[in-house]
Amino acid sequence: MKAIELNGKTFYPPLFLAPMAGLTERCLRRSIYKMGSLGGVFTELVPVFGLLNSRLKVEDYIKEDETDYTFFQLCGSDESKILKAGEICVEKGIKLIDINLGCPVNKITKGGSGSALLKDPEKCGKIVQQLLKNLDVIVTAKMRSGWDEKSLNFIEVGKILEESGVAMVTLHPRTRKQMYKGKAQWEHIKELKNSLKIPVIGNGDVLTKEDTKKMFEDTGCDGVMIGRGAIKNPFIFVESVKLIDNGFYETSTLKTKIDFIEEHIKNLEETFEEQKSLHFAKVFIGKVTKGIQGSSSLRNSLSTLKKIKDLKDKIKEFKETILKEE
Ligand SMILES: Cc1cc2nc3c(=O)[nH]c(=O)nc-3n(C[C@H](O)[C@H](O)[C@H](O)COP(=O)(O)O)c2cc1C
Repeated sequence: MKAIELNGKTFYPPLFLAPMAGLTERCLRRSIYKMGSLGGVFTELVPVFGLLNSRLKVEDYIKEDETDYTFFQLCGSDESKILKAGEICVEKGIKLIDINLGCPVNKITKGGSGSALLKDPEKCGKIVQQLLKNLDVIVTAKMRSGWDEKSLNFIEVGKILEESGVAMVTLHPRTRKQMYKGKAQWEHIKELKNSLKIPVIGNGDVLTKEDTKKMFEDTGCDGVMIGRGAIKNPFIFVESVKLIDNGFYETSTLKTKIDFIEEHIKNLEETFEEQKSLHFAKVFIGKVTKGIQGSSSLRNSLSTLKKIKDLKDKIKEFKETILKEE
């Protein structure tokens, strides 16, 4: 695997944690990044109007020591507003801005943001140009293949983004209309890679280390971004690197997984107030324990737990049962 260089900054290994609103809160991003084996992480989409009316604060998403590896994802439609939000970001020390050209949710697209921007490739270019003309920042973009199957314009949009100065582009090869249904069409990633000079990151349906390897091989992409697969198995990055570099991997043990959950709960407690920590911990545990034998009763009990201490006791009990059985 080759490192990705963006304006003199190195990202290695070329693996990235995907932005996922409601899931990849800043504590989880940090915990996964600290394990090593990934080059960067993305914040969930941050609506520019929230930054402009001060309801959202940059520092709630990112700490100063995270700015070299965290891409701050802006979601908006108007280039002058995106620029104003970009100014706020740069003032707060953001070095990497990602533009959301993929969100399929109605609430976002009806205002012309997210994947709706794919309908106006020139505007995508203008957004990037405005940011780069006025701010000292690296701009990347994350997009879908097009609005629907009749308007697959990822190559056109990719070329405009590249000409406008985008440093790297991530493609989640589904259309807006597909939402998360069907299969990600990896052949679109290959086509985009063959059409652009800037690094192209492949994303979509990478659920195992073997999928990571296959994504590189099948598409020739420069890097791989992993979302849902990383929530199910946060060790997917470590395992993928071992598989690709050494041809072997050790599957992470259940104990390692539960140790990670316990450590993550501690980090959440240090980061957020109790009810928020509890909420994020439950969401994560609900996903990360799926597939572990005997874990359904743990998941079923989550909604009854009202305090973080109760949750910690429950995890401890679960760990003891599992380890006894292993
Ligand atoms: C719950 C959820 C929230 C998401 N939020 C965002 C987001 O804020 N910004 C974004 O660009 N993509 C978002 N995505 C899309 C993912 O980043 C990714 O493109 C998609 O899940 C496909 O990758 P995967 O198969 O590895 O999960 C989200 C996906 C999910 C499932």
